[in-house]
Amino acid sequence: MPIPSDQQLIDAAIAASEHAYMPYSNYRVGAALLTADGAVYGGCNIESVSFTPTVCAERTAVFKAVSEGHREFSAIAVVTRDAGSPCGVCRQMMYEFAPDLRVILADLDGKAHLVTTLRELLPHGFGPMRLDTG
Ligand code: THU
Repeated sequence: MPIPSDQQLIDAAIAASEHAYMPYSNYRVGAALLTADGAVYGGCNIESVSFTPTVCAERTAVFKAVSEGHREFSAIAVVTRDAGSPCGVCRQMMYEFAPDLRVILADLDGKAHLVTTLRELLPHGFGPMRLDTG
């Protein structure tokens, strides 16, 4: 299976965003997470009327992948109307598994606005090594 390009990951994130459930914010988010062995897991944001249980697209993708046995990730594409950047909670959750993750931020038309790394987004992050379990 060939490694997907950034544009293919963006397209997968756009496809995932179509399932977003966001009646309260109207802010559609899609993510596509690439595992070290080349699988792609999509995710979308899923909101709750009581607000705090809301899950972001990035964490949906991480939870789907981890729950299917994956713990190594090489890239994630995230799409929103304004190529918004992942929230702090998602940065922390992604850092758990992949501090060197490549992060591609794009808009819903498929245009990449920023390609960066999780270490750039979460400098001096707190990771599993701190607890000597990693
Ligand atoms: N959201 C994400 O899915 N990912 C982020 O990193 C930022 C925020 C979602 C959560 C909520 O459904 C909506 O965007 C507005 O905050």
